[in-house]
Amino acid sequence: MTAAVFDIKDISLADRGNDRIEWALNEMPVTRQLLDRLGKQKPLAGLRISGCLHITTETANLARVLTAAGADLVLCASNPLSTQDDVAAALVRHFAIPVFAIKGEDTDTYYQHIKAALDHRPQITLDDGADLVSEMHKTRAHLLDNMIGGTEETTTGVIRLRAMARDKALKFPIVAVNDAMTKHLFDNRYGTGQSTIDGIIRATNILLASKVFSVVGYGWCGRGIALRAKGHGARVIVTEVDPLRALEAAMDGYQVMPLIDAAKISDFIVTVSGDKHVVDRRHMEVMKDGCVMANSGHFNVEINIPALEALSIEKRRHRDYVDEYRLPDGRHLRLLAEGRLVNLSAAEGHPAAVMDMSFANQALVVAFLAKQGKQLEHTVHSVPDNIDKEVALLKLQSMNISIDTLTAEQQSYLSSWREGT
Ligand code: ADE
Repeated sequence: MTAAVFDIKDISLADRGNDRIEWALNEMPVTRQLLDRLGKQKPLAGLRISGCLHITTETANLARVLTAAGADLVLCASNPLSTQDDVAAALVRHFAIPVFAIKGEDTDTYYQHIKAALDHRPQITLDDGADLVSEMHKTRAHLLDNMIGGTEETTTGVIRLRAMARDKALKFPIVAVNDAMTKHLFDNRYGTGQSTIDGIIRATNILLASKVFSVVGYGWCGRGIALRAKGHGARVIVTEVDPLRALEAAMDGYQVMPLIDAAKISDFIVTVSGDKHVVDRRHMEVMKDGCVMANSGHFNVEINIPALEALSIEKRRHRDYVDEYRLPDGRHLRLLAEGRLVNLSAAEGHPAAVMDMSFANQALVVAFLAKQGKQLEHTVHSVPDNIDKEVALLKLQSMNISIDTLTAEQQSYLSSWREGT
């Protein structure tokens, strides 16, 4: 049953990974239903699919749905530090899915693994950050003709793909799973909120109560992190460049100020801006001794690590996932998880109950692409509304929550302009 080709850390970890995959499935009721339904319908029969995703227990359960639905699936990592090696082993041994992913792989290996996923000659891609799609367009253009379509899981990937579409460079349709309501309202907010705090606590074991905790960026991820940091008793500051988001943060009860001022008083600075060098040299020059910096945005560019290296005279790994930099003036600045996604590097990523919705969208969108992808324009598309609503309904059912329905009178009132006071 073991896959024939793969590149993972250690196949002997497979049983442990399998137990953890089963544990996650307990928290994924919508995924369980899809496993059953798509497993019977086989809408992906014979389709070659390559997924560039974080290799976690939740992704393993998505992979089970796709293969049960008939897909011929290959997986590679979407981040060098996010792979759960026991899960990679279980996928290879227990589910015969070729996986190319090793936690801590260097950049060359990361791209070799993406190339291995492209060697599969996919007809459908699943991406988290758009590296697979970007690499196919840059180095394997001959594969583009095979393609039916792709999905994109995260905000950063959607931004990159929209830029490709704007430049008319995108050669097949993409569905932005990130933009489904049942994805970003829950995964980005409650998933990133909990898992980022989890990663920071596992890495540092520092008490958050009473600490000054700055969140850089108040999108859905920033909102979730700020909320959970506040729940731990931290004094939360939000920094923003968008006036509307800054105003919202102020009305949500946070202090709002420029990062250069926040840097002087913060014990923690967490980036979720999606942009480059938002924590820069000038901020590091004024940071408090002991300040902990972490990133939960997709790429490791949000904190200017080369500037930190240049500013410091000594660096040591003080704990797993904690690099401590000593500056000439005696201050110590701490960087978690080498500036990579702290929630997936130092913890286990979002909990299964939120990934349940994100990955239900993924599975249903892949089935939609299999059926209708060839008719779609080569641009970035929204998740069809019926899929978003179905995921919400299935999740509600699994939580034993029922809702009301409109009466005929209410329906007609909402569609009429004649009635007033
Ligand atoms: N992205 C964030 N959390 C994740 C998880 N647990 N699995 C896969 N992708 C993720």
